Amino acid sequence: MSDKCKKIYITTPIYYVNDVAHIGHAYTTIIADVLARYSRLVGYDTFFLTGTDEHGQKIEQSASARGKTPKEYADIISGEFKKLWDDFDIIYDKFIRTTDDYHKNGVQKAFLKMYENGDIYKGEYEGYYCVSCETFFPENQLIDGEGCPDCGRPTQILKEESYFFRLSKYQDKLLEWYKNNPECILPKSKRNEIVNFVESGLKDLSISRTSFDWGVKLPAELNEPKHVMYVWLDALMNYITALGYGNAEENMQYWPAKVQLVGKDILRFHAIYWPAFLMSLDLPLPHHIAAHGWWTRDGQKMSKSKGNVVNPKEVADAYGLDAFRYFMLREVPFGQDGDFSQKALIDRINSDLGNDLGNLLNRIIGMSGKYSDFQVSSKDVSTYHQKEIDTVNEVLENVEKLIYDMQLNRYLEELWKLLSIANKSIGDYEPWAKIKEGKVDEANALVALVVNILAKVSVLLYPVMPERISKIAYSLGIEINTSSYESLIKNRALLNDTTISKIDPLFPRIEEPLLATPTVTVEEKPKAKESVKEEASINEDGLIGIEQFMNVTLKVATVVEAEEVPKSSKLLKLQVDCGEENLRQIIAGIKEYYSPADLVGTQVCIVANLKPAKLMGMLSQGMILAAKDENGLALIRPEKPKITGTQIK
Ligand code: ME8
Ligand code: MG
Repeated sequence: MSDKCKKIYITTPIYYVNDVAHIGHAYTTIIADVLARYSRLVGYDTFFLTGTDEHGQKIEQSASARGKTPKEYADIISGEFKKLWDDFDIIYDKFIRTTDDYHKNGVQKAFLKMYENGDIYKGEYEGYYCVSCETFFPENQLIDGEGCPDCGRPTQILKEESYFFRLSKYQDKLLEWYKNNPECILPKSKRNEIVNFVESGLKDLSISRTSFDWGVKLPAELNEPKHVMYVWLDALMNYITALGYGNAEENMQYWPAKVQLVGKDILRFHAIYWPAFLMSLDLPLPHHIAAHGWWTRDGQKMSKSKGNVVNPKEVADAYGLDAFRYFMLREVPFGQDGDFSQKALIDRINSDLGNDLGNLLNRIIGMSGKYSDFQVSSKDVSTYHQKEIDTVNEVLENVEKLIYDMQLNRYLEELWKLLSIANKSIGDYEPWAKIKEGKVDEANALVALVVNILAKVSVLLYPVMPERISKIAYSLGIEINTSSYESLIKNRALLNDTTISKIDPLFPRIEEPLLATPTVTVEEKPKAKESVKEEASINEDGLIGIEQFMNVTLKVATVVEAEEVPKSSKLLKLQVDCGEENLRQIIAGIKEYYSPADLVGTQVCIVANLKPAKLMGMLSQGMILAAKDENGLALIRPEKPKITGTQIK
């Protein structure tokens, strides 16, 4: 098969519609977009899939909490994901929704085939179930005999009639796959974790539920109207139903996938269940399941309850989409966790993008203008700079395999090596001195060397920063497409004569953080639409409806730590436990009435879904209820001790 008809299929996870997108989701999707753009540039026939995961109890519950049907709710959030990817110029070939009919039909076909193969049987399931993670957990994994080992929320005991998939039957075959395909799971360190897990023994997997409705029904042939499919079976199948599996099969030639990107949180589903399902369906297995690490915000896990979720759109609007893309890929080695901070982003922009790349271009625009009226010819490059060209070619030799190995930060480091060759050679050869000595050819050869390096770097950087690099390409007088890829990268050719155009600086220096608080609380968007209606109803009679009251989450919380805020006569800084994974910090104006020692260990009532705010530079994630009259202030507390986190109604 020639490279041209090589098929490349790239997938992201399909995101749950119970959350709006944050930088974690953007990270996965951007990496996939980079791979897809790179593949198209090389000339591969590429198919890039993303979408939303819309079934399951968690979504049913999220929807009903907002007074919507699951489908109405899914339509809104799925639309928001899609809009974000469109705003982000993500070039996907298909956006799948698991509520789409062809998907449901395809999953039913797959279920039936596995059933007919003897891989599915009916039994009974009893176990500890985490609604939030849509997963059963064995008792010995629970936190304090109750909490979900993944998210910490309380699990519940569920007993139900269930269909099972014979996962145990595939244990050896899976181990064989991992062994024979050392790169099937990337990074390789993650493969060992999976191997250990599978070696410790696989139990059959419960794949149907009767405790709720919001899911794909079992195939009609089984006549089991009470059952819906386990959401992970439904969800994983999206990777093939999107290609037409079970229907017209119109794009099944793209299967098996080249790279299936996932976060490390869902690697187990993709590295164990998914290949086992595929084996049962007699389909080939993906080339790489690639699991990336976790993004935190200023060192803390991002979560809705903390309100410290970074909104990718805000960041991209403020700093530039391409700079954001570059940052995400360059800042963290694939597979490791990374921390988002504006400082780290600004450093990358000013140093890597501004100094190393942007300034280099500016200097070359200036020099080419001065020495040769913007005309650049490669004719003397080999005469004066064969050494540099050899080094450049050596780097090119090794850089490309890093892409599908998912070593994207190393890929970028290698390209920056090329930029440093260019920057260094300007310093070493001092073209301005050559001009003074009358060695015009030499000065022009140096300029041409740098232009050639910039051109090659631009081609390879294009998938990462398509918009900014298109500007550079324009300035260098080149186009970036499969044929320039072939000549400049694959065939290592030098540029034809070209004319340089002046452009404005691409990465102006940033001195100060541009965003006050790049956060979005998850509820913000859906609510904004309703608020108009709500205000109107208050105006009519001065009363609110129960739904409006229910919009305020009030909880019992226990004060774990308290301290005075220095230089403030009013504020205390509290760490309170409200039954969530992490403590919350609340800054309360109660210093005149309570000392820290009075508070630690006592219970208070808090507004738990208030948008976080900063008081004297400190984050406050909630508000404590109190009543104040002319005799002073009293905290509102439960009359008897209540379990921390109990909701107040
Ligand atoms: O798990 N850092 O959907 P999901 C990095 N529907 N990546 C993050 C992240 C963070 N802080 N938070 C989320 C599901 N992600 C299922 C998938 S696939 C058949 C079904 C990214 O909305 C990361 O890619 O919870 C993670 O795997 C994915 O979002 C989970 O998205
Ligand atoms: Mg999740």
